[in-house]
Amino acid sequence: MHDRLRVLQVGCGDISRLWLDALRDAPDAGFVGFVDLDPERARAAARHCASPALVGSDLRAMLAQTRADIVFDCTVPEAHHGVATLALEAGCHVLCEKPLADTVASARAMLAAAEANGRTLAVMQNRRFDPNARALRDFLAAGHIGRVTTLHADFFIAPHFGGFRESMEHVLLRDMAIHTFDSARFLAGEDPLTALGTSWNPEGSWYAHGASAAVTFEMTGGVVFTYRGSWCAEGLPTPWESQWRIVGTKGSVVWDGAESLRCEVVRNDEGFLREHASVPTPALRRTDSARWHAAAIRAYLDAVLVGRTPETVATDNIRSLAMVFAAIESAETHRRVAIASLTGAA
Ligand SMILES: NC(=O)c1ccc[n+]([C@@H]2O[C@H](COP(=O)([O-])OP(=O)(O)OC[C@H]3O[C@@H](n4cnc5c(N)ncnc54)[C@H](O)[C@@H]3O)[C@@H](O)[C@H]2O)c1
Repeated sequence: MHDRLRVLQVGCGDISRLWLDALRDAPDAGFVGFVDLDPERARAAARHCASPALVGSDLRAMLAQTRADIVFDCTVPEAHHGVATLALEAGCHVLCEKPLADTVASARAMLAAAEANGRTLAVMQNRRFDPNARALRDFLAAGHIGRVTTLHADFFIAPHFGGFRESMEHVLLRDMAIHTFDSARFLAGEDPLTALGTSWNPEGSWYAHGASAAVTFEMTGGVVFTYRGSWCAEGLPTPWESQWRIVGTKGSVVWDGAESLRCEVVRNDEGFLREHASVPTPALRRTDSARWHAAAIRAYLDAVLVGRTPETVATDNIRSLAMVFAAIESAETHRRVAIASLTGAA
């Protein structure tokens, strides 16, 4: 390992800007190259960073020329497997944009490549670095509503992206839902067991396929998580973080996905409807979502520097990815799908 981590940026499209900016003031890491199939995008990334680093479109050659320690993979999901495998085999650690891969088989092959080469493969799950989500996670873990039994998340936004998403099958589940699914694991501290869901493309959708979905997950600890979402629901949008109702054995929490967090618990054990008391909740703040990428990248670099396992390591994140593919399989087969059958877990 070099004194200063040598980072190769692969994929220089829209989201990569957040990654480029994250290293702006890093004392211990810097870009040594920019790779994109479209060389102009790689050049634009170098200009954005005012960096004299190498620019190219051939990853294998760039890995050899830059002797990078770390690859930041911001390519499209179908390319993650190829990029990560080459990088891991070249001895690089890899931090990959979500979703880890476009199939569970590819994800498992990437995990195997990381293991075989003794390198750390992790995933960008930026919403775990939202301070408000972390405050809620800690509040739940402190037991204020008893033991969490049920989580409900609503996600309704109508973005007109253009680009690869508009032709993607099951676009909401495949490209977006992993954020909310991973948040459910993060908030509850439980892992998914089964998925039962449906995915459809409502009239008026500007996507080719599956802009809406509803899925119920059974999780460890007897927890149930339900998800309702749409990427073509005009009006009354939720935050990108979803709106949450979380039920415990003693009370409930409602988080609007932004700065409002309310909690009520049962106060007595008499009456048809019991009395409830408000519980003070942590003060949530307006946060700049662009900073969560930087926080996630910092946490990853810190983990690599000291040889610690990062929070979003791929061996764990594959459980969130498997929720996506189990939901898609369930939507296609109209059957409940066991998630262990996808991750290979016992
Ligand atoms: N974490 C988040 O909040 C968030 C938000 C948006 C996008 N994303 C994810 O980021 C990834 C990229 O999304 P985007 O919106 O930036 O897409 P994009 O199409 O704007 O950029 C992708 C870039 O990767 C390049 N590319 C594709 N295959 C390549 C390869 N094999 N080698 C080198 N370059 C290659 C393309 O030429 C393009 O410039 C996706 O996985 C997406 O799901 C995450």
